[in-house]
Amino acid sequence: MKRMGILTGGGDAPGLNAVIRAAVKTAIYEYGCEVIGIRDGYDGFLTDGGIIPLGIEEVRGILPRGGTILGTANRGNPYARKVIRDGKEVVIDVSDEIIQAIRRLELDALLVLGGDGTLHSAHELYLKGAPIIGVPKTIDNDIGGTEATFGFDTAVTTATEAIDKLHTTAEAHHRVMVLELMGRDAGFIALHAGISGGADVILIPEIPFTFEAVLAKVEQRVSRGYLFSIIVISEGAKPVDGGQVFSRAGDEIYTPRLGGIGHKVGEYIDEHGYETRVTVLGHVQRGGSPTPFDRWLATRYGAAAVRLAAQGKFDRMVSLRAGKIVDISLAEAIAVPKRVDVNDDAVITARGMSISFGDESLPPLRGTLPKSE
Ligand code: F6P
Repeated sequence: MKRMGILTGGGDAPGLNAVIRAAVKTAIYEYGCEVIGIRDGYDGFLTDGGIIPLGIEEVRGILPRGGTILGTANRGNPYARKVIRDGKEVVIDVSDEIIQAIRRLELDALLVLGGDGTLHSAHELYLKGAPIIGVPKTIDNDIGGTEATFGFDTAVTTATEAIDKLHTTAEAHHRVMVLELMGRDAGFIALHAGISGGADVILIPEIPFTFEAVLAKVEQRVSRGYLFSIIVISEGAKPVDGGQVFSRAGDEIYTPRLGGIGHKVGEYIDEHGYETRVTVLGHVQRGGSPTPFDRWLATRYGAAAVRLAAQGKFDRMVSLRAGKIVDISLAEAIAVPKRVDVNDDAVITARGMSISFGDESLPPLRGTLPKSE
């Protein structure tokens, strides 16, 4: 392996720079391989100045930095790119141009750091001849075939800190606090942060809820003397008799943007007599320095991806299984997106501790009521 490329695609996630650093250092120190970076996802192959050298100097000091030194694009699908032709906006397939660029640059391997959409395109490009290795990135933790994606732990940490802060103000004002979190169609961020932060209600896309059940939980707490409640809700959560809530429609380039379900739940609780405030945490979850776990995972992923490239094992993705880094086919990784297992011990544990998922009739109160929580 003489020359390797790296690109980062889709929404950013804390740990991208840690992967880049580990990959560059491993490629240079272990294999004596030259590394180049492609800017702004696949776009860098098609734009002037889109290719930059990546040496030891370029990756110095980037381990704790959020974002990506390469830039990224979440409208960078090579099979649907918006361009102006004859004064008109049209959507075209630029995958052949990308394949030509990879050949022109004489890349022996291309590491693609991305989520679901970017890895789909990566697999398609492999089928056209590109020497691709995938690295699973996303705060949503929704990629199949791996126990963890880097970025998720940092997002959960940020969301848990937000719940801790909401707790103190909720208690002081005897209010209901609703916190809307990211995650698209997977409820991992809300479930993990909700349990870690001690939420009273956790609403996730995998468990459709009723407004009545959420209200009943708030009322039950008030009847026990707890005058505040914390409701954590995933942006993709949906009521039993309704759909997901979107803040923007999608088109050929963008997927529809989720957002707004937190306000709907908040309004319902408020209208029923419980003073409620809503916080939408948003992109704060994607920003900032990666946690030690994400740096550890990202570093191992980056180095393992280079080792795969050196062995010529293309169309593979590095993955975490039972604490070990292994590799699986990209086809397996993109086949079925990962979702919360509603029979998992985490959900059972939460239910057993009287956390509501908004889908149940409330269990009868048992045992001696504590004086405070
Ligand atoms: O996939 C990561 C993610 O942050 C989702 O949780 C969220 O729905 C989406 O990206 C937001 O995308 P954008 O950055 O385009 O607003």
